Amino acid sequence: MPNSRDTRRLEPNAAGIAEAAALLRGGLLVALPTETVYGLAADATSGTAVAGIYAAKGRPRFNPLIAHLPDLAAARREGVFDAPALALAAAFWPGPLTLVVPVSADCAVCDLARAGLSSVALRVPSHPVARAVLERAGRPIAAPSANRSGRISATCAGDVLEELDGRIDAVLDAGATKIGVESTIVACLGGAPRLLRPGGATRQAIEAVIGQALLLAEDDSAAPLSPGLLASHYAPAARVRLDAAAARAGEAWLGFGPEAETAAPGRAALNLSPAGDLAEAAANLFGHLRRLDAARPAGIAVAAIPEHGLGEAINDRLRRAAAPR
Ligand code: TXA
Ligand code: MG
Repeated sequence: MPNSRDTRRLEPNAAGIAEAAALLRGGLLVALPTETVYGLAADATSGTAVAGIYAAKGRPRFNPLIAHLPDLAAARREGVFDAPALALAAAFWPGPLTLVVPVSADCAVCDLARAGLSSVALRVPSHPVARAVLERAGRPIAAPSANRSGRISATCAGDVLEELDGRIDAVLDAGATKIGVESTIVACLGGAPRLLRPGGATRQAIEAVIGQALLLAEDDSAAPLSPGLLASHYAPAARVRLDAAAARAGEAWLGFGPEAETAAPGRAALNLSPAGDLAEAAANLFGHLRRLDAARPAGIAVAAIPEHGLGEAINDRLRRAAAPR
């Protein structure tokens, strides 16, 4: 039963890291910090362990997971890297980029984690605690964001427990995550690389490495490359209204940049970055949405966010949060 586990809190020291790796090797579920968001980790080579992730999240089975590795050498055992994939790995790993590549002949990531696809999503995170656990685990580790399916991603251990307490075996608490939005996902499946999800690595930085514009997933109507990119996702309980000039009656307010007026007293209001800094806004995004939602407003009105740099990932998440459910 998903709700019957005793969820332990592990410290981000040598003992906690060793314990997390041992739990993972034993097929159990551990929430791990990464530089983007917390991940709900399990042994990617074990169908039973991966089934535990889907059960804990209440996630539809057709949605494939990212396999996390300690370095490029380990990643190359799981997938086939063409020239653009190698250039991107060299430029961004370890870091907030996930590469979808064809599976290798001896790929150890199980069918369930790949949702039966002939490609695999690989990521080498930069968070030192995540890397230490991955090294000790000695196998690919599947880790979707540590939230229940469709809900707001978790950026600190407290938020992980709000989502998954009693459903997982442990959370390794290393404080708040630095970037705050998930990794950018790029498919390198032959031909030009394709952007499947904007994220912590900006489109501009990626295009500078590959020397051409990224194709968009929507440019190819043949197949939905990223089956998990559902329109409604990251959703608070409250209705979300984007590009708002001000909150209406009953709405909470999520601002960005310097604001002329302070919010009406008693109204829930937070600012993603009073200085108008997109990195700060990304780091605050999920936590602020969660805090405002906890005040149970009729809705959450969100100020306009510029679409460049990390703004592309922030706006992607906000559009999904605002999508009809
Ligand atoms: O920053 C992140 O990427 C976090 C941390 C924990 O690493 N993880 C994360 O995982 O965001 P998740 O499961 O929430 O998102 C993974 C996305 C899904 O939308 C899924 O559809 C897509 O990756 N994906 C996985 N394998 C794929 C594949 N073979 N082809 C296309 N899309 C794939
Ligand atoms: Mg997610």
